Amino acid sequence: MKIDHSSVVVITGASSGLGAACALLCGSMGATVVLVARREDRLREVADRIAQAGGSSMVIVADVSVEADCNRVIDTVSTTFGKMDVLINNAGRGNLASIEDTPTEQWRSIFAVNVDSVFWLTARALPIMMKANAGHIIAISSVAGRYGHPFNAAYVAAKHAVVGFIAALRTELVGTGINATCVCPAGIVTEWADVTEGGSIGELYRKAIPRSRTIAAEHNIGTAPLSRMMPSDECAQIIVLAIEAGRTDDVFTHNGTKEIAVEAVQDRSAQEDRFEALWLAMRETYDSQGHPA
Ligand SMILES: NC(=O)c1ccc[n+]([C@@H]2O[C@H](COP(=O)([O-])OP(=O)(O)OC[C@H]3O[C@@H](n4cnc5c(N)ncnc54)[C@H](OP(=O)(O)O)[C@@H]3O)[C@@H](O)[C@H]2O)c1
Repeated sequence: MKIDHSSVVVITGASSGLGAACALLCGSMGATVVLVARREDRLREVADRIAQAGGSSMVIVADVSVEADCNRVIDTVSTTFGKMDVLINNAGRGNLASIEDTPTEQWRSIFAVNVDSVFWLTARALPIMMKANAGHIIAISSVAGRYGHPFNAAYVAAKHAVVGFIAALRTELVGTGINATCVCPAGIVTEWADVTEGGSIGELYRKAIPRSRTIAAEHNIGTAPLSRMMPSDECAQIIVLAIEAGRTDDVFTHNGTKEIAVEAVQDRSAQEDRFEALWLAMRETYDSQGHPA
């Protein structure tokens, strides 16, 4: 599907990071971009940048972990534009806690923003797209939706649920003109790692990665095959190219991560072994921080 002046593109989590980058890119291509998130000031900044580039947008302040807000978003788009070409379910949040330290409220809130929102928004958007027999639904999962990482089990489980949801959605879209694609990025340079619930998982990684190299040398094991941190505009380009190409296979944005996901399916122990030094370093760092606080 071509993104151009006739396109209406709805993006959740458009106030920062990857969502803002997708919004700026789609806006620069002429689309009308519907910007959804909770921080109105940050949404207005993105809207201003789109306007400066000659594009147009609409701001909808909404908490996508609330069903009524998701319904309001889709109803507003339907009433205003009478169509929706692309829905990018991008809003998401991670957590920092071992499984035994994870409070039930944290588990539920991570599922609400990462999973429930994708269900509510997609379910409400489908009748609009089905009427046109056209559209593209994107869900931003993660490599955490394909293989495990320590100290954010709620997030890992939630992103696995997103992968399953899109797989099921695709079976219901067979024979229609609507596409659905799951995107599985690894590290992107955004606020994500420092705004995780329960503390900064970014800080845990920053301390654990150098320590993991020492552990790897001491135990004569390999270092974790980490991919480079990707700028958000580069990741946005990959997503927009996937929409324009009508790509429906799952999109692994970072080199080497699809191979790790395949390895996790074929031989999970072998995959986990390759990350052993990092997981050991993260356990050591997590315990030394005395969690829960
Ligand atoms: N950064 C990475 O390394 C990475 C890797 C793989 C996958 N991802 C995924 O990529 C997506 C984008 O994250 P990012 O990296 O761009 O992080 P980010 O800069 O923290 O952006 C997250 C966005 O989600 C929005 N959001 C969070 N909770 C929300 C809620 N309850 N209602 C509405 N909007 C909400 C935030 O807006 P407000 O706070 O204004 O509501 C913000 O716009 C997420 O799904 C994330 O899990 C990120």
